[in-house]
Amino acid sequence: MLTFANLVLFYLTLAGTGRSERCPQFCICDNIKHSVTCVNKNLTRVPVTIPQLTNKLDIHGNNIKVIPGSAFLPIPYLTHLNMQKCNIETIEEGAFRGLGRLVYLNLGSNNIAFIYQESFDGLSFLQQLVLENNHIEEIKPGAFSQLGFLNLLNLGNNFLVYLPDMIFQGLHQIKWINLSNNTLNIVADQAFAGLPTLKRLSLDHNELQYLPNEALSKLSGVTRLDLGWNPLTFIGEEAVQMDSLKQVFLNDMALQDVSHNAFEKSPSLTLIDFQNNQLKMMQPMTGLKQIKKVNLKGNPIHCNCYMRPFKEWVDKSTIQANTVCSSPISFRGEHLESLRAIDLKCDSNISEVEEEQVPAPITSTEEFTSCPQNCVCRPDLLHVSCENKGHRKIPKGFPANTRLLDLQRNEFHTVPKNSFPDLKNLVSLHLQNCHIAELQSRAFLGMKKMIYLYLSNNKLSTINTAAFEGIPQLTYLYLDHNQFTKIPKGAFKFLPNLFALHLQYNSISFLSDDMMTGAEKLRWLCLTGNNINYVSPMALHATEELEKLHLDENVLSEVPTSALLNLPMLGELKLSKNPIKYIGNGAFLPVASSLQHLYLDNLGLEKISAGAFAGLGPGMRSLYLENNKLPNLPSMNNFTNLEVIDLGDNPFVCNCQLLPLHRWIEKLNLKVDATCELPANVHGQRVKDISFKTCLGWKEEKPKSTEHKVKTNKKPIKRSQKIPNTSKGMINKSR
Ligand SMILES: *[C@@H]1O[C@H](CO)[C@@H](O)[C@H](O)[C@H]1NC(C)=O
Ligand SMILES: *[C@@H]1O[C@H](CO)[C@@H](O)[C@H](O)[C@H]1NC(C)=O
Ligand SMILES: *[C@@H]1O[C@H](CO)[C@@H](O)[C@H](O)[C@H]1NC(C)=O
Ligand SMILES: *[C@@H]1O[C@H](CO)[C@@H](O)[C@H](O)[C@H]1NC(C)=O
Ligand SMILES: *[C@@H]1O[C@H](CO)[C@@H](O)[C@H](O)[C@H]1NC(C)=O
Ligand SMILES: *[C@@H]1O[C@H](CO)[C@@H](O)[C@H](O)[C@H]1NC(C)=O
Repeated sequence: MLTFANLVLFYLTLAGTGRSERCPQFCICDNIKHSVTCVNKNLTRVPVTIPQLTNKLDIHGNNIKVIPGSAFLPIPYLTHLNMQKCNIETIEEGAFRGLGRLVYLNLGSNNIAFIYQESFDGLSFLQQLVLENNHIEEIKPGAFSQLGFLNLLNLGNNFLVYLPDMIFQGLHQIKWINLSNNTLNIVADQAFAGLPTLKRLSLDHNELQYLPNEALSKLSGVTRLDLGWNPLTFIGEEAVQMDSLKQVFLNDMALQDVSHNAFEKSPSLTLIDFQNNQLKMMQPMTGLKQIKKVNLKGNPIHCNCYMRPFKEWVDKSTIQANTVCSSPISFRGEHLESLRAIDLKCDSNISEVEEEQVPAPITSTEEFTSCPQNCVCRPDLLHVSCENKGHRKIPKGFPANTRLLDLQRNEFHTVPKNSFPDLKNLVSLHLQNCHIAELQSRAFLGMKKMIYLYLSNNKLSTINTAAFEGIPQLTYLYLDHNQFTKIPKGAFKFLPNLFALHLQYNSISFLSDDMMTGAEKLRWLCLTGNNINYVSPMALHATEELEKLHLDENVLSEVPTSALLNLPMLGELKLSKNPIKYIGNGAFLPVASSLQHLYLDNLGLEKISAGAFAGLGPGMRSLYLENNKLPNLPSMNNFTNLEVIDLGDNPFVCNCQLLPLHRWIEKLNLKVDATCELPANVHGQRVKDISFKTCLGWKEEKPKSTEHKVKTNKKPIKRSQKIPNTSKGMINKSR
């Protein structure tokens, strides 16, 4: 077994025999393949004396704050350069000059905030540029003008708010631009001009409140457009005009309405994905001769006579529509395709509730006559923005059919009673970054249709119990990045339809009894990044339908097992980054039959007892245990359906006790990053590759039958009951 020092010596000798070049300290040089790696060495600069003929240089995981001009002049034959995770803040002018052969440059996961005009000068042959996970907030026009061969540009997970005109000028061969997960709000009309080769554009997970129609219409060659997870409420007439577009993703937005001719000028479309929006009704979409699929899964579709034309259209054109009716009651849960068009009726005896659900046709502009001062009203988009206009009081006099109101970045301090008297059609209200410390009772009165309320990044520490009165449809509530030290009791009692509650990054230190009273339909609760050290057993007992619970980045010292007792639907539990050293028997038993995704990474976990995963089995899809201090694991044999298992960065002790894990990994057709820490002779080797020959005949220790202290549920749980039946597939493991 070569030790690391031996290896270095070995290569040094190799290098020494040929040219006079030395391999730099802390690096490993392969002078046959012309590659040099100096990884995770805390280097503060690009090493000098790298062999001149080097093609591949990997220096990720160092501490190089600045890449100075001409840093790579001595190694002009580089084709691949990896500088991820180097704490890079600045790329000086001409930093990469001389690298005319470079095809791949990875600068991901650094702290780069600006891209200057000359940052990438000299990279005339570059094909892939990865800038994901940085802090990029501005890119100077012309920055990419020399990258005529680039075909992939990844700018995902950055802080871009605005795309100016001509920003991508010069990318003559670009195929894919990824702008996913920025905070894009404005896209200039000529932002995408001059990109005829672009095939795919990813704009998902941004803050677009309306479609940048003009800008998108310049993309003559794009076939796939990702726009999901933007807070759009409405898609108007001829909103998308892209000749070549085949697939458009508009999932997980706040869509209320889509005009029937929204895509008329995009005749090549074969797929439109509307999953997880708020669409209650659809009309046949005009102009689409090639359409194969219109995905409406996760929308509250009301299957009455208004849906008949759509049904007839999908039947006639054999379009797959994935539509499940959510009302009327008689059709709830039925697939639209299994119904007959003539059964879609409008009863003369429509109950009041149902009447409410009949969508108002998209009205045109006549109601949009007034517009408050210092606000911009867009009648075509039913959208009003008063963002960052120095307002100190909430303006009045909004057009009555406004759907989305953006009041971000003003200075309101308080939201007084009945602040929005005109907005009975509003769906989405944006009040982030407004220094709000107080919500008076009935602050939002009258906004009966409001579904999204964004109050992130304010100064709220408490909530008046009547603050949310009068907004019964509220579904998504964002209270993250405020100053809560506890969950305001009773605050959610007026929110029977609340689905997702975001309370991450506050200073909540414990979860007390009955904190969620009233929020009976809550499915997602995010409490990431608080100071939670205790969860009372009754804390979550009002939210029986909870599916996702995020308690990561808190200070829990044990799994809050008893608080899970009343959560028969829980599918995802995140406990990452809590100081949990030990997990005892039956820790997940209360949610064993529903749990699919379990995050136990970065805990400092030292031991998992033999029965800790009792009850968990084939239903589990992913399990995260990386970055712990685990020398061994209990039997994993019951995890037969995992799609993700992460065991990286654990100090596994590869003795006979580890044989069961080795066997399990061997059988698995998944990549598993488990490596041995001890014994020293196998240090760094993969558990999978170790030969356990000497352990033949060694008996696996059977876990003792474990008496679990955890009580079982009071009530029988519908979905989770295991029906004693030998035929496979009887047990519903997922929804
Ligand atoms: C890396 O270098 C910096 C300063 O050069 C030093 O403060 C830090 O402790 C070093 N880290 C490691 C892990 O060696
Ligand atoms: C775009 O980039 C982000 C960040 O790197 C990444 O998470 C995402 O998967 C990329 N998008 C696609 C469609 O691959
Ligand atoms: C978006 O980026 C942030 C960091 O910039 C990251 O924490 C988050 O996981 C990303 N979200 C997605 C959906 O990629
Ligand atoms: C109308 O609806 C009410 C309440 O749902 C029901 O009791 C009644 O029988 C209905 N009448 C007709 C004519 O369907
Ligand atoms: C695996 O599943 C079987 C059958 O359900 C059960 O008897 C056994 O205790 C489980 N093993 C573990 C370690 O949970
Ligand atoms: C299991 O359930 C299926 C379907 O309900 C039934 O046909 C079968 O007879 C059952 N088998 C046993 C062993 O009870």
